[in-house]
Amino acid sequence: MIRIAILISGRGSNMLRLADVVADMPDEARIVLVAANTNCDGLDSAAARGLPTRLVDRRDFADRSSHEAALADSIEAAGADWVLLAGYMAILSADFVTKFQGRIINIHPSLLPDLKGLDTHARALAAGHTQHGATVHVVTPALDDGPILLQAALTITRAETEAQLAARVLRLEHALYPF
Ligand code: GRF
Repeated sequence: MIRIAILISGRGSNMLRLADVVADMPDEARIVLVAANTNCDGLDSAAARGLPTRLVDRRDFADRSSHEAALADSIEAAGADWVLLAGYMAILSADFVTKFQGRIINIHPSLLPDLKGLDTHARALAAGHTQHGATVHVVTPALDDGPILLQAALTITRAETEAQLAARVLRLEHALYPF
């Protein structure tokens, strides 16, 4: 039985997709925690699904290290083996990453190592890239830099807006992350 904690900060569509898949494999995996660092739609959606949720609000803590300590306590109290980042909009410290070494996974909306960081769809379009996509990787202390587990690519063949491209990549993400 794989026990999964998912960390989110926003709408939580990848989290919901993971929840759908995990619900179909009850003997193999369970989501034991959905935690957010800010009050967000995803947390409400997770609660509506009956998933265990926890708001560990960054604003309630004086600094990153005390916030991360509370987050780590929640993850450990839930008995999670794996920590899946799904739109978690904060950079985790080396201490936090080391504590869960090799057991934190992230999904990033680009074909890493290209386009680390934010605004990947706009940057892909601005750079005239013809290939774009999503990457699932192990989290290391360096941002968007850990060993790559999976990638899915699409071709940018026509003029499209950032929103259109983002929607296409998100569909890829929803297929890729559960896999
Ligand atoms: C996704 O594009 C993910 O790759 C990135 O943040 C976005 C989160 O979207 N890290 P959602 O909250 O899962 O809908």
